[in-house]
Amino acid sequence: MDSLLNIILQGSSNFLSFQLYELLLLSLLLALLLSVSLTTVYRRSFFRLAGSTQLTLPPGTYGWPLIGETMRLKKSSKKPEEFVQQRMERYNKSIFKTSLLGERMAVFCGPAGNKVLFSGENRLVVSWWPRSVQSIFPLSIITSHSSRKLLASFLRLEYLRRHVGTMDTVAWSHMEAQWAGRRQLKAAHHVKSYTFALACRLFASIDDPDHVLRLQGELEVLVGGVLQIPVKLPGTRYYKAMGAAEAIRRELRPVIRRRKMDLTEKMVSPAQDLLSYLLVTGDEDGRLMTEEEIIDNILLLLFAGHDTTSCVITLVMKNLAEKPHIYNEVLREQREIAISKKDGELLNWDDIQKMKYSWNVVNETLRLAPPVSGAFREAISDLTFAGFSIPKGWKLFWSSYTTHTNPDYFPMPEKFDPSRFEGDGLTPYTFVPFGGGPRMCPGKEFARLEILVFLHNVVKRFKWEAVFPGEKVEIEDGMPHPVQGLPILLQVQPNHF
Ligand code: HEM
Ligand SMILES: *[C@@H]1O[C@H](CO)[C@@H](O)[C@H](O)[C@H]1NC(C)=O
Ligand SMILES: *[C@@H]1O[C@H](CO)[C@@H](O)[C@H](O)[C@H]1NC(C)=O
Repeated sequence: MDSLLNIILQGSSNFLSFQLYELLLLSLLLALLLSVSLTTVYRRSFFRLAGSTQLTLPPGTYGWPLIGETMRLKKSSKKPEEFVQQRMERYNKSIFKTSLLGERMAVFCGPAGNKVLFSGENRLVVSWWPRSVQSIFPLSIITSHSSRKLLASFLRLEYLRRHVGTMDTVAWSHMEAQWAGRRQLKAAHHVKSYTFALACRLFASIDDPDHVLRLQGELEVLVGGVLQIPVKLPGTRYYKAMGAAEAIRRELRPVIRRRKMDLTEKMVSPAQDLLSYLLVTGDEDGRLMTEEEIIDNILLLLFAGHDTTSCVITLVMKNLAEKPHIYNEVLREQREIAISKKDGELLNWDDIQKMKYSWNVVNETLRLAPPVSGAFREAISDLTFAGFSIPKGWKLFWSSYTTHTNPDYFPMPEKFDPSRFEGDGLTPYTFVPFGGGPRMCPGKEFARLEILVFLHNVVKRFKWEAVFPGEKVEIEDGMPHPVQGLPILLQVQPNHF
């Protein structure tokens, strides 16, 4: 399954729902851009051909001028991986060219391609995000390099592991408030409120439920518009997302001011959360982030970690509901951990390390339904790959699903089998739910802890059954979701432990 690619098409689905005046304006723009781009393209390719006779671009088609293959990608929007797979079969297993978002793009489809993109960062390629993403988080690490290390160091395991107990507390209170005493609920919805509450708590110590709910409302609007065509006209999803981002910034500013005072008066610990960490910790040159940089980065993390982690937890719950033998193994592992604890003692890092089987279940879920279908790079010099040339300036895309389901690396790829991850047999660059290289997802440890802590809490208390066994999973807003939101019947775990 997928996401980022599909996200591009969410752009075009919106494209279709534009109101009339937007369409008019857009077609005007299109016509204008078309004439400009056609002239420059022809001029450029003329010089290129004149300069080098050897240049063989990857096979593939650009589709329509300007909109490229965006509409075709949209057609397979519920199963965007098919877009990639069809082209791999038609053109080349390793690479094809296309045009999306108005950009010439090469899609890399195998472990060798992943290796080039992940290990070539800053040498051959740099990370690139669509313009809409850049404009919503203008001061975040997506656009500025200085603060990246700082953010990554808060999310590093050595730092995060001390927060496992807090995660446990948040998961427990979430279960008390939203799960206990219920017969039936929609898991997808409730899991989202857990991951969001946890992010608010660990990033900015916001735990007032009303405040959290208000922020979550805004964030959902933001999520719906981040990967749209960036047309700043009232009514578009992109425009609403810009407004939501501003609303969240307005909510965060007073939180920062108050925190600064509390830190000065030594009322709070500098290690309390991400906010305090960023307020007191400088980068390599000792420079502190500005308030607005801190806000944009918190906004980015709230966005990047929200739908991703919650959709993984939801799909893990779905898999456990449908595969009782796997549920039982997870239960056995978690029960052993639970009975080793004293009454009221919170989970810690050592406990997490014992969750080996549970983690394999999560990995297998990530393999078959990677929440992020891949990510972009930009070529900073001319590249050659698999016998093809890719000109400097082209946008590149790597795709996770293509290697995750390749039978050469994962025999019987459609089978859900956590034991694939036992031992150390994985071929490098074939399992890439978090990307790789210097731009690998900085939130991967955070995600892991958050998922395992939830799993521990939910398995400990409940057994559950899917209301719609075999419920279909489709891509929506770029992420794989059970189409009905995974309604489940809850039963209190009979053998308390
Ligand atoms: C299971 C959950 C998650 C998955 C599958 C996931 C996956 C990814 C992927 C594939 C990328 C692109 C990497 C690349 O360009 O090569 C990415 C980037 C990113 N992720 Fe995650 N992520 C998850 C959770 C999180 C969480 C919880 C956070 C924050 C706490 C987070 C923060 C980020 C950020 C800030 C980036 C951008 C990094 C950059 O551009 O340098 N992610 N993620
Ligand atoms: C297509 O990809 C393969 C690797 O999968 C590569 O070896 C081959 O050269 C490519 N095909 C052509 C026609 O160049
Ligand atoms: C599970 O996935 C993570 C990356 O997401 C990887 O680092 C880890 O090695 C995997 N586990 C196994 C046992 O392969």
